[in-house]
Amino acid sequence: MTGKLHQQRQTWDEKPVLRAIYGDYYRRIVAACRPGRTLEVGGGSGNLKALLPDVVSSDIVVLPWLDVAADAQALPFAPAVFANIVAVDVLHHIERPVRFLREAERLLQPGGRLVLLEPAITPLSHPFYHRFHPEPVDMAADPLADGPLSPDRDPFDANQAVASLLVRRHAAALAEAVPGLRLSQARYLSLLAYPLSGGFRPWSLIPAALVPAALWVERGLEPVLGRLMGFRLLLVLDRAG
Ligand SMILES: C[S@@+](CC[C@H](N)C(=O)[O-])C[C@H]1O[C@@H](n2cnc3c(N)ncnc32)[C@H](O)[C@@H]1O
Repeated sequence: MTGKLHQQRQTWDEKPVLRAIYGDYYRRIVAACRPGRTLEVGGGSGNLKALLPDVVSSDIVVLPWLDVAADAQALPFAPAVFANIVAVDVLHHIERPVRFLREAERLLQPGGRLVLLEPAITPLSHPFYHRFHPEPVDMAADPLADGPLSPDRDPFDANQAVASLLVRRHAAALAEAVPGLRLSQARYLSLLAYPLSGGFRPWSLIPAALVPAALWVERGLEPVLGRLMGFRLLLVLDRAG
């Protein structure tokens, strides 16, 4: 398990194209955050601390570069202590996402923000994620279902569809299940550069030098084509005051 995260950290260090694309993600995430203390959940290979001051980084796995080992479904903090909670590519790995959302509701200060970056399942991305990504895409799942937790679950087990399901099919149920959080932004990103980069795979079809231009083109296309072609979804949920 930790081997996979150490390997991801090495890929991060060795793949400039990945850093250029994630740099854009992190800039958008930081821009969505409120001033104040931030909790990063599922920090994994861990990069948010380099960009945002006052971050507590956590993961269910013990990693030497993170601050706290904790399950997102039962976080060891007092209520209303964080201005932001950030989770990059984590929600779809959590066994019971609704438990994490309720923890975010508990831990965020009034006006605080939960910022999530997740895979987006769109007409273009769906076949790619389904055929070329090892994690499943289950559009029939209920992302708000609660129930017992499996003690032997691998933290990399996943359903890549969780965020898309929450936004597209379960938004009303989300508002009911977690009334203290209000979905304020759902932006579809990554039409070109991310799929061409291969993500954390060793290959890339785009050189790092072309990433800024590709991202500039993407920004213009996102509002029109994001829902059809986006590979990523940036969600912001506001904690009610
Ligand atoms: C795909 S990695 C993403 C890591 C990092 N955020 C990044 O963007 O590189 C998913 C992370 O979620 C963590 N994770 C999975 N289930 C979790 C849970 N229930 N609570 C906290 N972290 C969890 C995994 O250990 C892993 O580090």
